[in-house]
Amino acid sequence: MSEALVLVENRGRVGLLTLNRPKALNALNDALMDELGAALLAFDADPDIGAMVITGSEKAFAAGADIGAMKDLTYVEAYASDFITRNWETLRRIRKPVIAAVAGYALGGGCELAMMCDILVAAETARFGQPEIKLGIIPGAGGTQRLPRAVGKAKAMDLVLTGRLMDAAEAERAGLVSRVVAADKLLDEAIEMATVIASMSLPSVMMAKEAVNRAFEAPLAEGMQFERRLFHSLFGTQDQREGMDAFIAKRPPSFRHK
Ligand code: HXC
Repeated sequence: MSEALVLVENRGRVGLLTLNRPKALNALNDALMDELGAALLAFDADPDIGAMVITGSEKAFAAGADIGAMKDLTYVEAYASDFITRNWETLRRIRKPVIAAVAGYALGGGCELAMMCDILVAAETARFGQPEIKLGIIPGAGGTQRLPRAVGKAKAMDLVLTGRLMDAAEAERAGLVSRVVAADKLLDEAIEMATVIASMSLPSVMMAKEAVNRAFEAPLAEGMQFERRLFHSLFGTQDQREGMDAFIAKRPPSFRHK
């Protein structure tokens, strides 16, 4: 049997997904993206999982979409198959938080995959970029849309038009990543962060994710209204009672995720 392209592990309430095509620097092909999508959906449906972490190897989170697999595509084939939507959109449908733990290269589709996650944690070795321009194409999985939202227009234009790479420190200054850690601490840090998130009440975590994402898709007034409705609805959960009772009683809460 050929080795899995995505290694799947449970770490307590955290689902860990490791991209596993190290010889090709985790270049993202259809088979890998299918496996990743299936594993994400399985964790999303698993009541014992509260958050997920996607990581790669020491050298590369992912060096982009597989250039060999797409180099002979014609326009009509790309258009008619709606190239990449089949398995790249899955991550957007995941409702529990997903953390990208990035070491080494996160380029092109690899950077876009990391940006589709809810939080990016980077090793000091991380290098981000959208080098598609050097191949005569442009980013195709959100690079021109999510990067400007994350780092602003000036830096996004700089990266997308020159194809240059940005190191972890620059990515943190620019707001793309939430934390930079030593390479040998990356996975521990990401799993610890995911464990903290997974210890919270799952309905409130899922609604918090949905509400923050709404900030990028809706005008402020609509986003505020959306937030308020979700906020109200959480008073229908047992965990809201438990969280507030525990605070008043000066004891830790014991959430049951309902
Ligand atoms: C296919 C890739 C690959 C890729 C690396 N490899 N990136 N294969 N697609 N995106 C393969 C190499 O061919 C090589 O295979 C092996 O991985 C190791 O790579 P090297 O180049 O030998 O390593 P190194 O010299 O360390 O250089 C690392 C690198 C370079 C700077 C990351 O590999 C690179 O520039 N890669 C391409 C980055 C890129 O352009 N990404 C954007 C792709 S377009 P062999 O068999 O020779 O050992 C894209 C569009 C997204 O992502 C559209 C929406 C999905």
